[in-house]
Amino acid sequence: MDLFGGTRETYLAFADQAADSPTLAGWSRAVAEDEEVLAWLGELPVLKQQPNLVYAAARWHGLAPTAAYADLRRLLLADDGTVRATILARATQTNEAGRLATLLPVLARIAAEDGPIALVEVGASGGLTLHPDRWAYRYATPAGEVRLGAPGAPVLECAVEGPAPLPDRLPEVAWRGGLDLNPLDVTDDDTARWLETLVWPEHEDRRVQLRRAIEVARADPPHLVRGDLLTDLDPLLDEAGRHGRVVVQHSAVIAYLEEPDREAFHDAMLERVAAGTCRWVSNESPRVLPRVLAGTVGALGTPPVGRFVLALDGRGLAWTHGHGRSMSWWDDVPV
Ligand SMILES: C[S@@+](CC[C@H](N)C(=O)[O-])C[C@H]1O[C@@H](n2cnc3c(N)ncnc32)[C@H](O)[C@@H]1O
Repeated sequence: MDLFGGTRETYLAFADQAADSPTLAGWSRAVAEDEEVLAWLGELPVLKQQPNLVYAAARWHGLAPTAAYADLRRLLLADDGTVRATILARATQTNEAGRLATLLPVLARIAAEDGPIALVEVGASGGLTLHPDRWAYRYATPAGEVRLGAPGAPVLECAVEGPAPLPDRLPEVAWRGGLDLNPLDVTDDDTARWLETLVWPEHEDRRVQLRRAIEVARADPPHLVRGDLLTDLDPLLDEAGRHGRVVVQHSAVIAYLEEPDREAFHDAMLERVAAGTCRWVSNESPRVLPRVLAGTVGALGTPPVGRFVLALDGRGLAWTHGHGRSMSWWDDVPV
């Protein structure tokens, strides 16, 4: 009997997902072969066995970002409870401002049609993806570079394929707010340092971007509320509705829900859209919101490994890189 099959699978899957971090991919493959470390991980609640959480906790307690696997192994097996306590106390709430580059075309299109937007993010973490209007963007397209945004603003870069409707102006954001089970206060230095630790070791560009995103959010703090996206969203939508066209957005959140809850959230969002309460911009793994591919997946073939689907009002539009580095728009799907 394979006592650690589930954990081993999780680490093997993460090795593929983290292909652009040789350190994390290497650690994950080594963990999957290491019965003693698998046993140590097996003592954690299943939800706390997440590779990124365990690695961040190890780094939090002194492991060098690109340490050899032997160092990670030693640190975990010699743990006196300190690393375990960090794993239990904290969560992977990676907040990735780079995703704004892939969300922007849809947000700008809604603002162009409906006027200033009131942006509500569910699963907002520290609220770092609530300021699409405070960044500059550099899109690399087959036809050349497209830039927009104010001179001097921090820049997000994104490679584009397909007929992306790149905007020529930023959306006006009249109001911004977010909902999270555990909203993070990025004015707190300890929280900011934890968010930095969650960024994969070799991704120095993302760490620099994160520091800029924290500056942006500290200059204009969004309204963040503690709550569950399944039960606590409506009051925030009422509040947002007083300020502009309400847009609900989310990235990398729905994977945290149980499957029936994913479906219930999908249904609830379609109802809100049908009632005219809001527009709905989702940027999630195709595995967790499978219905956004309905009617298109045959034509598109198998979803590319590790890519999200960008969708508006439940209709898929493009594959996006999980950290916003690129997007590939599908043919013949009007936004
Ligand atoms: C990986 S982070 C993504 C943060 C942000 N959306 C981004 O793209 O950078 C996922 C966030 O979803 C939150 N979350 C998970 N389940 C939730 C729920 N049921 N209701 C509200 N927030 C939730 C977590 O607390 C975490 O902050």
